[in-house]
Amino acid sequence: MKTIIVAKGLDNAIGQDNELLCRLSNDLKFFKKTTSGHLILMGRKTYESINRPLPNRVNVILTNNKNYKAEGCHIVNSITEAEEFFKDYEKIFIIGGAQIYNLFADRVDRYMITQIKANFPDADSHFTDLDYTKLNLIEKTEFKADEKNEYDFDVEIYTVNK
Ligand SMILES: NC(=O)c1ccc[n+]([C@@H]2O[C@H](COP(=O)([O-])OP(=O)(O)OC[C@H]3O[C@@H](n4cnc5c(N)ncnc54)[C@H](OP(=O)(O)O)[C@@H]3O)[C@@H](O)[C@H]2O)c1
Repeated sequence: MKTIIVAKGLDNAIGQDNELLCRLSNDLKFFKKTTSGHLILMGRKTYESINRPLPNRVNVILTNNKNYKAEGCHIVNSITEAEEFFKDYEKIFIIGGAQIYNLFADRVDRYMITQIKANFPDADSHFTDLDYTKLNLIEKTEFKADEKNEYDFDVEIYTVNK
């Protein structure tokens, strides 16, 4: 089962200056709980933004650079190589960024979308436009803004009609 997991603004914004747009403590907890124990695939730029392997997960980085090394991470150089690597794992999470979401948009079974209730006009990374007619909303949980969560947001889980 392959899942894209993303936090996006209403305008599809996902990042600025190779950083996330805001800190949502409850979303980070959801992300950690959901992905722990599983494989996460990320682009080289997202990896460099995090700058360490995320604990208790199999960290896989996609890059064109055949000599790229990152301690505690596996490196793949193409989608084919990534898909080959996935075969040994039951749950795969595609964790971004924009380029990697685009590459996998038609290759996943599920989307977990943290829909932040705000626009981010200064963002420089955006999520793929989704065709929601091909998706089934199976779960939606609402979270309210507070001192540790800058904005209201919903976590929406969709399965993809194949
Ligand atoms: N809101 C969220 O949920 C979320 C999640 C993750 C990231 N982000 C944000 O997204 C932004 C980064 O996104 P991005 O699109 O700039 O970068 P990215 O998708 O993280 O990484 C792009 C890199 O992936 C590699 N790559 C892409 N396609 C490839 C292919 N077909 N084969 C081999 N390698 C390939 C290339 O690495 P090389 O250049 O090394 O070849 C490319 O430069 C940041 O602002 C980050 O904070 C947001």
